[in-house]
Amino acid sequence: MDVLEAIQKRRAIRQYLPDPVNREDILAVLDAANRAPSGLNRQPWEFVVVTGEKIFEMGANYRSTLDEYLSHWDQSPMRDFITREGFTRFAETYGGAPVVIVVLIPIDEKPNFRKADLESASAAMENLLIAATALGLGTCWMTGPLRDESALRRILAIPDDREIVAVTPLGYPEKIPRAPARIDADLTQKVRWVG
Ligand SMILES: Cc1cc2nc3c(=O)[nH]c(=O)nc-3n(C[C@H](O)[C@H](O)[C@H](O)COP(=O)(O)O)c2cc1C
Repeated sequence: MDVLEAIQKRRAIRQYLPDPVNREDILAVLDAANRAPSGLNRQPWEFVVVTGEKIFEMGANYRSTLDEYLSHWDQSPMRDFITREGFTRFAETYGGAPVVIVVLIPIDEKPNFRKADLESASAAMENLLIAATALGLGTCWMTGPLRDESALRRILAIPDDREIVAVTPLGYPEKIPRAPARIDADLTQKVRWVG
């Protein structure tokens, strides 16, 4: 699969098969992430690869933060992709994915590096997602689990000098949702040509 096809095929996957992911494939998507560009070539990202019972501990924590959100489900944009029950199950189990990857950056080494480090880690995250798609794997960029970041930090023993940027499940998709429509698909509003 070429890179443009992988970009088009990538979807936020919220239901996974229980099939395990090979260590080589996990390392391949992390290698793609590790090849992202970075501000000042700091390569600030680090990855925590979570498997087994810890995923359920993470899921129980995420689910415990969602009552308020779920009580206003009728206003959630997620309704276009998944039912309330489906989303609850996704939160509780990370969709049944056998692997969850957590992306970290350093905290406060020099506060003015934070923006560049966040952008660099986001580039790494996107590389990871695209590489996973190319290998037939699903992912879902998630920041929702940071609602209770301190509990997540405790569960994963994240050191005080590291910030969590985002989380993604990794596994073989059970269900691939349709692609959401593009706002301004023909790029007439979002693009201004100069010169
Ligand atoms: C910064 C960021 C945070 C996100 N957080 C969540 C999340 O917490 N939970 C979730 O189910 N999806 C999350 N998503 C996935 C988006 O909902 C998804 O990308 C969007 O609906 C478009 O669907 P697509 O990825 O299939 O194109 C997040 C995506 C981004 C980029």
